[in-house]
Amino acid sequence: MKRISITLPKKLLNEFDEILEETGYSSRSEGIRDALRNYILEHSSLNGLKGDVAGTITMIYDHDEHRTLEKLTEFQHEFSSIIDSSLHIHLDQKHCLEVIVVRGNSKKIKTLVNKLSTTKGIKRAKLTISSSEIPD
Ligand code: NI
Repeated sequence: MKRISITLPKKLLNEFDEILEETGYSSRSEGIRDALRNYILEHSSLNGLKGDVAGTITMIYDHDEHRTLEKLTEFQHEFSSIIDSSLHIHLDQKHCLEVIVVRGNSKKIKTLVNKLSTTKGIKRAKLTISSSEIPD
């Protein structure tokens, strides 16, 4: 085992601790190990995608965050060939929920998901594949 040190926003840690308590984890480390395993699993299944796929990308973002909205629009224009539709919901004063329906080359979809996941202000970009093969 290796020991690491990380910095987290207080709110995120509180939410994580609440889940740990609800689910009965004996330690924070065990919970973090499981969260990391899930993260790795999610990414490896993303890497396993081949050919054409269809699915959705769901995101929550903070529209007050500098340039997030601008970046999101830029990406959607850049990847318009694989985006079929999008849905935007204003959740509260600060937060928006956006669902993008994607269809096409899995490599391109992966690139878009990675760009969205690493954009500041986007709290989460989750890809759900609804079809691994598009019927003719
Ligand atoms: Ni909004």
